[in-house]
Amino acid sequence: MTASTAHFPYALRPLVAGDAADVLAAFTSHPDMARQGDVASFADADRYIAGLTAPGSRHCPWAIENEGHLVGLVCVTVDAVNRSGWFWYWMRADARGKGVMQRAAATVAAWALEAGGLERLELGHRVNNPASGAVARAAGFVQEGTERGKFLIDGVRVDVDTYGRLQSDPHPSTPHLLLSSH
Ligand SMILES: CC(C)(COP(=O)(O)OP(=O)(O)OC[C@H]1O[C@@H](n2cnc3c(N)ncnc32)[C@H](O)[C@@H]1OP(=O)(O)O)[C@@H](O)C(=O)NCCC(=O)NCCS
Repeated sequence: MTASTAHFPYALRPLVAGDAADVLAAFTSHPDMARQGDVASFADADRYIAGLTAPGSRHCPWAIENEGHLVGLVCVTVDAVNRSGWFWYWMRADARGKGVMQRAAATVAAWALEAGGLERLELGHRVNNPASGAVARAAGFVQEGTERGKFLIDGVRVDVDTYGRLQSDPHPSTPHLLLSSH
């Protein structure tokens, strides 16, 4: 544990069924959460969590917890054949902008490339979502390209910047959160 993790009131632990109310709160906190999945009710949140935590699932979902509540999620969706993972994240709107997601993403990326046994992580974000790019870079990801006109959103084609982090890449200096696997 570093001094910076000791007094920072956020930590990571696996997503669990009991997080449904907090997942619903996050999905209803901002319109931009609509692109993260279809969660508009408690039952939807239950299903969302069940899909990510089912036995044998390819997903490794880590809840960001603050004062006993989930406020965000960082997930690695594993491609076992290629020992790689698709990396994605979201944060409840009122918990954003505090640097927590940068720390959470750096922590989960390090976990995935060390304990998780993966050799490559990858992600993509719309170019009009610069906060996501800042999170990726803080977690040690390197921009590898741009997929031009990838998405059609409200009638406009939007580019997506693509990022990767290899096991052999330098570790970022971003402080970690405490991560507990149970
Ligand atoms: C993307 C998301 C997770 C970021 O969460 P967050 O809590 O704001 O993240 P952090 O506070 O840890 O870091 C955000 C960084 O983005 C930067 N940032 C925020 N808005 C920005 C903007 N408009 N332009 C440039 N940088 C911006 C912040 O300054 C900060 O970087 P810094 O510390 O170097 O200054 C959050 O906005 C979210 O959940 N969005 C909806 C879901 C989503 O888009 N997920 C990613 C899909 S690819």
